[in-house]
Amino acid sequence: MMTSTLKISSLTKTFAGVPALDAVSLTVQPGQRAALLGHNGAGKSTLMKIVLGLIPFDSGTVDVCGAAPGSAAARAQVAYLPENAAFHPALTGQEQIAHYLSLRGESPKQALRLLERVGLHEAARRRIGTYSKGMRQRVGLAQALIGKPRLLVLDEPTSGLDPVSRRDFYALLDGLAAEGAAILLSSHALTEVEARTDRILILSRGRMVATGTLGDLRRTADLPVTMHVTPVNGYASEIERALPGAIRVGADLRLTCGQDEKLAVLGRITGLGAKVADIEVTPPSLEDIYSHFSQRDGQ
Ligand SMILES: Nc1ncnc2c1ncn2[C@@H]1O[C@H](COP(=O)(O)OP(=O)(O)OP(=O)(O)O)[C@@H](O)[C@H]1O
Ligand SMILES: [Mg+2]
Repeated sequence: MMTSTLKISSLTKTFAGVPALDAVSLTVQPGQRAALLGHNGAGKSTLMKIVLGLIPFDSGTVDVCGAAPGSAAARAQVAYLPENAAFHPALTGQEQIAHYLSLRGESPKQALRLLERVGLHEAARRRIGTYSKGMRQRVGLAQALIGKPRLLVLDEPTSGLDPVSRRDFYALLDGLAAEGAAILLSSHALTEVEARTDRILILSRGRMVATGTLGDLRRTADLPVTMHVTPVNGYASEIERALPGAIRVGADLRLTCGQDEKLAVLGRITGLGAKVADIEVTPPSLEDIYSHFSQRDGQ
C-alpha cells in the first residue's frame, strides 16, 4: 500500500466553543490533486492552517509526510500558499523570492527561474507594489514552488487569476503531481476543479460530507437527468402528450427523470421516430452535485 503524504483522522477544532472542524478525516496520496470545496466559513482555511501547524487543534490525528504538523521535518516538505498572501510592496518580485529562498536554506540565485515558471519573468525586477492582483498571486505560487515540496497546500490559488493564467497554473500543478507531489487546494471555482483535479472533498459546516471522484459523487448524489426534446414543426403537442411530465420551454420540451429511468425515457422518445428533431441529455452539473451535498448536512 502506498503511504499517504497527508493523513487526517477525526480532526476536531473549535474556536471559543464554536466548532470549525468536526471529526474530519481525509488522505492525499503522492501524485494526487485533491480539491477542497465548501461554502464560506466551511472550515477549509482552518484545516489548511492546522496541516501547516499554524494553529493547534483539539483532537484527532494529523500526519504530514510522516511527521507532526509544524515540525521541522514537516515544514521542510510542505509548501503553503495562504488565502491572502501579502508581500513587501517595496521589494521587487526577485528580491522577495530570493528572501524566501534564503529563509529555506536554498540559493537565492534560483529566484528568477522560479518567477519564470509562474510567468513573472519580465516583471521580476519591478516592485511588488506595482503588481496587479493576479501578479501578486503568482509571487505566492513561485514561493510555494521553493525546494521541491512533497505536499502543496494552496488556499484558493486561482482566485484573482484570469482564464489563461488559471490554465497555466493547473498545467504547472500537473507537472508537480506527475513528479509525485501531493496537492491539496481549496477553491470556489467548481468547473475548473472538475477538469483539473483527481478527487473532490466537500466540507460543509466543518464536516466532510462527501469525498471521491466526480463520478463517485455523481453516482452517490443520484440527481435527476434533464432532457430537452426538439419536436419537428407541428408535432409539439403530440410529443407532449406522449411524454408525461414534459413541460414546454419555448419550442422545446423539457423533462427530468432519475438515472435509473433514463434509458426507458430515451427509448420512449426515440420511439416517436421522425416527429423528434433532436434530443439533448444533460447530466447534473457539478454545481448541482455540490449544492446537494453541502445542503444535506446540519440544516
Ligand atoms: N481565529 C479564529 N477565531 C474565531 N473563529 C474563527 C477563527 N478562524 C476561523 N474561525 C471560524 O471558523 C469557521 C471556518 O472558517 P474558515 O476560515 O476555515 O472557512 P473557509 O472554509 O476557509 O471559508 P472561505 O471560503 O470564506 O475562505 C468560520 O466560522 C470562522 O468564523
Ligand atoms: Mg478560507
